[in-house]
Amino acid sequence: MPKIIVALDGFSSCGKSTTAKLVARQLHYAYIDTGAMYRAVTLYFYNHHLSLTNPRDVEKALREIQITFRYQPETATNETYLNGLNVENEIRKMYISERVSEVSAVVEVRQAMVAQQQRMGRSKGVVLDGRDVGTVVFPEAELKIFMTADPLIRARRRQDELLAKGELVGLEEIMQNLQKRDYIDTHRTEGPLRQAEDALLLDNSFMTVDEQVEMVVRLADERIGRA
Ligand code: DC
Repeated sequence: MPKIIVALDGFSSCGKSTTAKLVARQLHYAYIDTGAMYRAVTLYFYNHHLSLTNPRDVEKALREIQITFRYQPETATNETYLNGLNVENEIRKMYISERVSEVSAVVEVRQAMVAQQQRMGRSKGVVLDGRDVGTVVFPEAELKIFMTADPLIRARRRQDELLAKGELVGLEEIMQNLQKRDYIDTHRTEGPLRQAEDALLLDNSFMTVDEQVEMVVRLADERIGRA
């Protein structure tokens, strides 16, 4: 059976990773959370008090950082490791969300992450979620979806996600964080968030997770049939 690349791009907190994980599971594909990689880089900068505007700091960080994903049977998902340490929980916290867009706007950081993502997906059979997968990382991806949702619905989903991890954050603070990230993500010069011309727009404001997954798997099956 031929294998394809599924690229799921879109705004923060519109359910990309939930959908991507489940689609990958149904297709028996690997799942690559590209946002987790930028979050891990952000954690490294934070922990080592490095400056984004100091080229020597950026170079040192990119030389020393090793990001890997390991399958965790207990959670049945891939978890993110930074230099051998499981950082899956830490990188989802609010202090990382507040800083990640600035880190991911640094050209050298993007180039290093994109190169690693291209290596991880070169044999196809992967579902990637992010901001620039269909435009920069794999412009030749067979299936591209651009996900979006109503801003208030996105903020509520993010709030529930944080609460489930024990972090109580007000809706207003979350809305502001999402707005700021949307702005930086869409306005940066390198790999800005935008819908690829050949991407299908999926507004999931009023869709269940099952409905989204079913739709993407159906589209993927069609593409696999044609590949
Ligand atoms: O998907 P996420 O919210 O975990 O992503 C975290 C941040 O990383 C997001 O604010 C923008 C950045 N990002 C990026 O610039 N390019 C990607 N391919 C994925 C994420």
